[in-house]
Amino acid sequence: MSKIHAAITGVGGFVPDDILSNADLEKLVDTNDEWITTRTGIKERRILRTPGKATSDMAVEVVKQLLEKTNTRPEEVEMLICATVTGDMVFPDTANTILDKVGAKNAFGYDINAACSGFLYALTTGAKFIESGMYKKVIVIGADKMSSIIDYQDRATCIIFGDGAGGVMLEPTEESVGFIDAVLKADGAGREFLHMKAGGSLKPPTQETVAQREHYVYQEGKSVFKAAVMGMVNTTQEVLKRNDMTVDEVHWMVPHQANLRIINSVGEMLGIPPERVMLNIYKYGNTTAGTIPLCLWEYESQLKKGDNLILTAFGGGFTWGSILIKWAYDGRK
Ligand code: UT7
Repeated sequence: MSKIHAAITGVGGFVPDDILSNADLEKLVDTNDEWITTRTGIKERRILRTPGKATSDMAVEVVKQLLEKTNTRPEEVEMLICATVTGDMVFPDTANTILDKVGAKNAFGYDINAACSGFLYALTTGAKFIESGMYKKVIVIGADKMSSIIDYQDRATCIIFGDGAGGVMLEPTEESVGFIDAVLKADGAGREFLHMKAGGSLKPPTQETVAQREHYVYQEGKSVFKAAVMGMVNTTQEVLKRNDMTVDEVHWMVPHQANLRIINSVGEMLGIPPERVMLNIYKYGNTTAGTIPLCLWEYESQLKKGDNLILTAFGGGFTWGSILIKWAYDGRK
C-alpha cells in the first residue's frame, strides 16, 4: 500500500469586525503611529468586543467555513485540535467547546498550548493522525482572543496583539502532496522573556495579583526578537536540507506575523524575496496561534497544487519551528 499523506483540503479564517487602529492606541498609551509602523509594521488589529464571545466563537466561524468548503457534515469530523493560549476557560479545553457548538458529536479533541508556534505543533500532530490511517477528517485550528490578556496600559505589548482565528481541514490522500516534514523546537528557559505572571498554579489569582496587573502578557521584546529571527531561519534551513530542497524551490513562506522587521530579516537571511512571503500583519497585528492559518486563508486563491510552502513561527515557551507542505489543490476564491 502506498503511503498516506495528510493534505490540507480547505482553509478558513475569521477576524472580528471591530478595528483598533494606531490612532486609537495613541489615545490609550504614550505612543504614535510612526513608532508602531516603523517598529512593527502594524497599522491596525481586530478586537472581539461582543460580550459573552470568546476564542471558541471565532473558531466556530472557521469550522463552519471548513465544513462547507470540504462538503463535510459535522458528524463526519473525527478530531479537532485547537492551538490557543486564550482558551475560553482554564479548563475544560476549548476544542471540546468548539465541537459542541458545531454539533460534531462523533469527534474528540484537545488544545495545544505552544503560543505563537501553536498552529505548527497542532498541524504536525493532526497530520500524524491522518498519516497513521487512524482518522480521515481532522480539523486544526489556531485561535486567540489576545485582547483578553493584554494590558492596554502597557505600550510595549498592547500595540502588537489582536484577535483572530484560522484553521484547516486535513484529509488523507495517496498523492505526493500535503504535509511533508516538520522541525519543531522548544526551550523552556525562554519562559522568562514571554509569559503571564499570575493565574496559573504557580501564582493563583488574588486581589494582589490583579492589583499588580499580573494577568496580562509580559514580554521582553528585544530578547524575543533576536531569538525569533535565528530560530525561524535555522529550522527552515534544517527542514529544507533534510528534504534535499533549496529556497529556490519554495513558492511561499508563511511566517508567524509578530513583527514586520522579524519577517523581513528572516526572508533576507533565507534569500526568499518579499513577493513570496505572505503578509497580513499590517491589518491584523499578532493574533498568536491565528496568524499562520489566517495568512493561508487570505492567500488561498493564489495557491496552486504542487506549491511548496514553508510555515515558520517563533513564540512563547520558547517554542519555534518550520513545516514543509506541498499544497494539495488549486486556490479557490
Ligand atoms: O509573537 C510572539 C513573539 N513575539 C515577538 O516576536 C516580538 C518580538 N519583539 C518585538 O517585536 C519588538 O521587540 C517590540 C516591537 C516589542 C519592541 O520594539 P523594539 O525595537 O525592540 O523596542 P524596545 O523595546 O527596545 O524599545 C525602544 C524604545 C524604548 O525607549 P528608550 O528606552 O529607548 O527611551 C521604549 O520605551 O521605544 C520605547 N517604546 C515605545 N515608544 C513608543 C516601547 N514601546 C513603545 C511604543 N511607542 N508603543
